[in-house]
Amino acid sequence: MAVALFSTLITLLFGAQIANAAGLSNQVTCSTGHVTSNKACCPLFPIVDNIQQNLHGGGACGFGAHTALRLSFHDAIGFSIHGGKGGGADGSILIFNTTELAYDANVGIDDITADQWPVFQTTGLSAGDFLHLAAAVGTANCPGAPRLQYMFGRPPPVAPAPDNTVPKPTDSVDSMLARMADAGFSPAELVALLASHSIANVVDIDPTVAGIPLDSTSTTFDSQLFLEVLLKGTVFPGSGANSGEVQSFTTAEMRLQSDSAIARDHRTACSWQSMINNQARMMTQFKAAMAKLQVLGQDTSKLIDCSDVIPVPKPFAGPIKYPSSFSQANIEQKCTEFKFPSVGR
Ligand code: HEM
Ligand SMILES: *[C@@H]1O[C@H](CO)[C@@H](O)[C@H](O)[C@H]1NC(C)=O
Repeated sequence: MAVALFSTLITLLFGAQIANAAGLSNQVTCSTGHVTSNKACCPLFPIVDNIQQNLHGGGACGFGAHTALRLSFHDAIGFSIHGGKGGGADGSILIFNTTELAYDANVGIDDITADQWPVFQTTGLSAGDFLHLAAAVGTANCPGAPRLQYMFGRPPPVAPAPDNTVPKPTDSVDSMLARMADAGFSPAELVALLASHSIANVVDIDPTVAGIPLDSTSTTFDSQLFLEVLLKGTVFPGSGANSGEVQSFTTAEMRLQSDSAIARDHRTACSWQSMINNQARMMTQFKAAMAKLQVLGQDTSKLIDCSDVIPVPKPFAGPIKYPSSFSQANIEQKCTEFKFPSVGR
C-alpha cells in the first residue's frame, strides 16, 4: 500500500521513466530494451520483428499484412455463441488446414497459410496466438489503422471449424447478418469489420486481374472504400461479370457483391454511410470489433493483454476525396436518416 502510493507519487512528480528505473511502476523493461506492462509479453517483441521481416515485407502494408488480416477473420468466425461450431480465434485454420482449406469460402486462403506456416514454426507460439498476432502487426503497417488490441495465451486448437461458417461474397445480406449474429456480431459490427476491405486486394474472383484492389487506396486504412462502394456501378474490370462481383465505378477496382449489398441494405446502410470521411469513427469501431473477433471462443480471463507489443500505426494524412470526375451526384444514397457526409474533390 505505502509502496504503491509512493510509486504513484514518484510517477506524478517525475514521470514513468524514473518510477520505472526505481522499479516502482507496473512497466517492465525486457532484455531487448522494449517496455511492456507484463513481462510475459517480452518474448513477443523478437517474434514481431520475425513476422515483419519474414511475412510482411519488412513492415509493409502489402500482401502479407492484408492476407494476415483476412486470415484472422476466416479463422475466428468458425464459431457460434450457441455452441456446436468451431473454437473461434484458435488458429484451427493453420493446424487443420487440409480440412478448412477445402471449404468454398476459403478459396485462396491456402496461399496465406502456406506463407505463414514456416514462420509460425519458428516462433513456438500456439497457432491462434501466432495468426492473430500476425494480423494485428500487419494491420499496424497500414497508415490510418488503429493499434489493435492483442491478447496472448490461446491454447492450441482442438478441432477444425465446420464448413459454412465463413460468409461468401455471393451470400444474401440476410444470410450474412444471420451468420454474423450467430457468431455474436451486430449488423453495425459487421460494417465496422468491413473497414478491413479498405486495405484489400482480390486475387481469386477474376484471375485476369489478380491483385486488383477493392478501393483506390488499398495501402491506407481510410474510408475511401465506404465512399467508392456507393458510387453508381457502370463497368466490370477484367473479364466481366464473375461470381462474387458486381459492377464497379471504374475498371481500376473490383466491387464485391457483398460490400455493395451491405452498403445499400436498410439494416446496414446508415452504419456504412456513417464511416465516410469519419476516420476517428472508423478506427474506433474497427478496433472494438476486432478486439472481439480476435478472442472469439477464448477464455479471456486466462489471456494476458500484450497490446503494447503491437507497433504504433502511422496516422492517416487525409482527407479522403471523390475520384476525379465523380461527385455526390454519382452516389446511390440509401441512408436518409442523416445528411450524406461532405467529401472534397
Ligand atoms: C460478409 C463478410 C465478408 C465477405 C463476404 C468477404 C469477402 C471477401 C472476398 C471475396 C475477398 C477477396 C478474396 C480474393 O479473391 O482474393 C476478400 C478480401 C479480404 N477480406 Fe473480406 N469478406 C468479408 C469480411 C471480412 C472481414 C470481417 C475481414 C477482416 C476483419 C476481411 C478482410 C479481408 C481482407 C484484408 C481482404 C484482402 C486480402 C488480400 O488483399 O489478399 N473480410 N473478402
Ligand atoms: C498445412 O499444414 C502442414 C502441416 O500439417 C504444412 O506442412 C503445410 O505447409 C500446410 N499447408 C498449407 C497450404 O497451409
